[in-house]
Amino acid sequence: MINPLDLTGKHILVTGASSGIGKATAIYISKLGAKVTLVARNEKKLEDTLSKLEGEGHSVYPFDLKQVEEIEGLINNIVSQKGALNGLVHCSGIATMRPLSMTRTAFLHDMMLLNFYAYVELIRCSSKKNNFTEGASFIGISSARSISGDKSQTAYCSSKAAMDAATRCMAKELATKKIRVNTVIAGFIKTAMYDMFVGNAGEEAVNSYILGRQYLGMGETVDVANAVAYLLSDAAKFITGTGLIVDGGFLS
Ligand SMILES: NC(=O)c1ccc[n+]([C@@H]2O[C@H](COP(=O)([O-])OP(=O)(O)OC[C@H]3O[C@@H](n4cnc5c(N)ncnc54)[C@H](OP(=O)(O)O)[C@@H]3O)[C@@H](O)[C@H]2O)c1
Repeated sequence: MINPLDLTGKHILVTGASSGIGKATAIYISKLGAKVTLVARNEKKLEDTLSKLEGEGHSVYPFDLKQVEEIEGLINNIVSQKGALNGLVHCSGIATMRPLSMTRTAFLHDMMLLNFYAYVELIRCSSKKNNFTEGASFIGISSARSISGDKSQTAYCSSKAAMDAATRCMAKELATKKIRVNTVIAGFIKTAMYDMFVGNAGEEAVNSYILGRQYLGMGETVDVANAVAYLLSDAAKFITGTGLIVDGGFLS
């Protein structure tokens, strides 16, 4: 028997590991053998995720990723204490909705800090000599809404589109180091963020989600975790610079 998703011994950094997709991903990849380093702001919630991981060698680094200038120190600390990275998954993100009339530069900047600047900085620092292992895989969680667009989501959708564009550039640049870079382009997934979206926009806003909703059911965090595990694994060794769409047919 072979397990193409085997991650035994791989050191993977997961941001946003205190909640939703990041938490589910951390738990899931630990079951595939990964040694997981958990990052987000809420230490108590990170400890709860840690308690649910399988295997050993995992750790928690509470950190506010909007402090983009401090990310280099964070990565250097993690690597010196836990070893070089085989992969990283940037799940931390915010999706605050605001109509265009209220979308000022400061608001755009705040969205970009976590969703985009932190993503590029995490990969910039992780791809430095001695911080990664050959064949490393770096992943961002993007959104199908960056392709479909939506009202009151100019900032959010743009930050995710920027993430996808940067992914294509970084993949080309980092291929010489044998590092792969991809995004998972997720549709609606049942998390706190989804509940906030439905609370703001109303249930009818997700009614266009016909294939997923009526035939495939609601998207779950494990659906994204599965795609992430695949991209982290050597089974995806020829896949880089792309976005893997996991949306139950939303964009089709
Ligand atoms: N749910 C969906 O339908 C959906 C669809 C497409 C894409 N996505 C993307 O998937 C990712 C995860 O979303 P989710 O649904 O799992 O949301 P979630 O449950 O709200 O989780 C968001 C995570 O981001 C972390 N975070 C927020 N601000 C942070 C900061 N300043 N520094 C570090 N971490 C921070 C939070 O942890 P702390 O509060 O502890 O810091 C939390 O772990 C996001 O990038 C989102 O855009 C979600």
